[in-house]
Amino acid sequence: MPTVLITGCGRGLGLEFVRQYAADQWRVIATAREPQATPELAALGGNVRVCALDVTDFAAVQALAHELREEPIDLLVSNAALARMNPPFGSTDYPTMRRIVETNAIAPLHLAEAFVEHVARSELRAMAFISSRMGSTTLNTTGGAYAYRASKAALNSLVRTMAMDLRERHITVLALHPGWAKTEPGARVEVDESVRGMRRVIHRASAHETGSFYMFNDTVLPW
Ligand SMILES: NC(=O)c1ccc[n+]([C@@H]2O[C@H](COP(=O)([O-])OP(=O)(O)OC[C@H]3O[C@@H](n4cnc5c(N)ncnc54)[C@H](OP(=O)(O)O)[C@@H]3O)[C@@H](O)[C@H]2O)c1
Repeated sequence: MPTVLITGCGRGLGLEFVRQYAADQWRVIATAREPQATPELAALGGNVRVCALDVTDFAAVQALAHELREEPIDLLVSNAALARMNPPFGSTDYPTMRRIVETNAIAPLHLAEAFVEHVARSELRAMAFISSRMGSTTLNTTGGAYAYRASKAALNSLVRTMAMDLRERHITVLALHPGWAKTEPGARVEVDESVRGMRRVIHRASAHETGSFYMFNDTVLPW
């Protein structure tokens, strides 16, 4: 049975990743800041192991990596993130911007470094980083959302760099855009459809596509 570790599983797309992999009989390590706030996680049962994890708590990430040191992890899904905040130019809230960049870019790199050995010794050897179209520099024609855009653009750069560095270890590293999924008001894409699509991309992507940026519907996005 393959194993997936997912961050930010208390709600939204992270919780849906857990539901879908658990339904497919994967072993799921579901991490969330406050797992007790999501009773559904514990109720999913046998093959889902629930762990409390704030991804910006590096000591906690290292402790979990150590606790799981014997376990191969086929797929690491770095999903946890702080959503966009949109103070306009001239009103940037710098403490918040630092937290967003730390959560959305720095913490995913640290997560990958903490779990690379677990992934390297698995069968699938894949890491998926949930990014955003808002991190695409090419597609930015509307401005705004400074902190969120910068954090996801930084994540995209980190994904590309990790992909190059981890190629020789046969680890496939992808950046994925979920579409505008219905965890947000006004969005268009059903959450289960978004996650099903991203999983399809992860499982069909071949090693030579490492370092790519895909949308949930399998189209390539420009950086
Ligand atoms: N929904 C969309 O349309 C959309 C579009 C583009 C990209 N994305 C990306 O898709 C991913 C999931 O988004 P979503 O819509 O499901 O967002 P969401 O509903 O806001 O969920 C985000 C999750 O991340 C967790 N989180 C935040 N900071 C964390 C930390 N320091 N440590 C651990 N967990 C933390 C949250 O935990 P708490 O419950 O404890 O707050 C929550 O479970 C994110 O990377 C997001 O940027 C979403």
